[in-house]
Amino acid sequence: MKNQNQNPFAAAVKHINGPLPLVNLLSWFFFFVCGLTLGIILCFHYKSFSFNLQLNNGQFSIFTSPSTLPLVTNEITSNTSHVGLKEYVERANNVAHNMTDEELLWRASMTPRIQEFPFHNVPKVAFMFLTRGPVLLAPLWEKFFKGHKGLYSIYVHSDPSFNEPEPEFSVFHGRRIPSKKVEWGHASMIEAERRLLANALLDFSNQRFVLLSETCIPLYNFSTIYSYLMNSTQNFVEAYDLPGPVGRGRYSIHMSPIIKRRQWRKGSQWFEMDRDLAIEVISDRKYFPCISKLLQGFLLC
Ligand SMILES: *[C@@H]1O[C@H](CO)[C@@H](O)[C@H](O)[C@H]1NC(C)=O
Ligand SMILES: *[C@@H]1O[C@H](CO)[C@@H](O)[C@H](O)[C@H]1NC(C)=O
Ligand SMILES: *[C@@H]1O[C@H](CO)[C@@H](O)[C@H](O)[C@H]1NC(C)=O
Ligand SMILES: *[C@@H]1O[C@H](CO)[C@@H](O)[C@H](O)[C@H]1NC(C)=O
Repeated sequence: MKNQNQNPFAAAVKHINGPLPLVNLLSWFFFFVCGLTLGIILCFHYKSFSFNLQLNNGQFSIFTSPSTLPLVTNEITSNTSHVGLKEYVERANNVAHNMTDEELLWRASMTPRIQEFPFHNVPKVAFMFLTRGPVLLAPLWEKFFKGHKGLYSIYVHSDPSFNEPEPEFSVFHGRRIPSKKVEWGHASMIEAERRLLANALLDFSNQRFVLLSETCIPLYNFSTIYSYLMNSTQNFVEAYDLPGPVGRGRYSIHMSPIIKRRQWRKGSQWFEMDRDLAIEVISDRKYFPCISKLLQGFLLC
């Protein structure tokens, strides 16, 4: 018994091999109950103690610390890693990013499945300008947007060589998205449109997406256009079947079977669409890559 008291662990090991006498079993049970009771008492008494399991240089260490003292957590309390919803939503309206097209499209293809916003949200119209240089009719647009801040967002895709800054008072100031060279009738044109859509989709408040050229002018005032678009259940995308060489004639058998002859339509590149369709456009991995390959001179898509 003396031996057991001095080193209960050694005794336990010894007893695993031999038969366990009833007395010993009872004494272990007694120890166990005492330990358990002590544990429960301590637990209730020091409710304010918290456990911390840390992995340091590959070694585990357990220590307790009263939770009334601030825990020494390095990153969690610092501002940089503490991104709330507000920051996340506001940052989305900033067009200055350095994402590649692939990264941008992937990021923009995400869509919340919960329809209700957990914050105050005013739906906006995204006006997306596809230009070569500056927005030529900017003064007219300035007048159009005046007094309607918060109901629109502006995105400009101009030639990458154009880098004249917009004056700070302008609604176009800081609204130029990272762009690439565009050639009419080339896949780069569609890429630019997808880039504009993707940038605009990053902002969850944008509900309607209007593609405009540098020579477009508004024919109605802002409130008329805003309520017309917001109340509309339609998308305004031109697509019609045109017999003759510039319509049906442009269909290539090499597009088959991805694009079938009966699916082929002609239409203008300018559009106005809602968020659902815009997400479909930028997420398309079937039709655009096919058209893009043929436009680049590949024989098959
Ligand atoms: C976090 O940022 C806010 C405002 O930007 C500042 O007031 C606060 O002191 C910062 N906190 C820490 C822990 O850096
Ligand atoms: C964007 O900027 C960050 C930080 O400067 C850098 O780590 C990242 O590699 C950049 N990404 C691209 C695609 O240039
Ligand atoms: C906008 O145009 C509509 C119709 O032309 C007109 O009724 C309305 O008063 C105009 N709104 C403003 C703010 O000028
Ligand atoms: C359309 O929407 C506006 C604001 O979004 C609202 O005031 C108006 O009543 C709606 N209906 C019509 C027919 O314009």
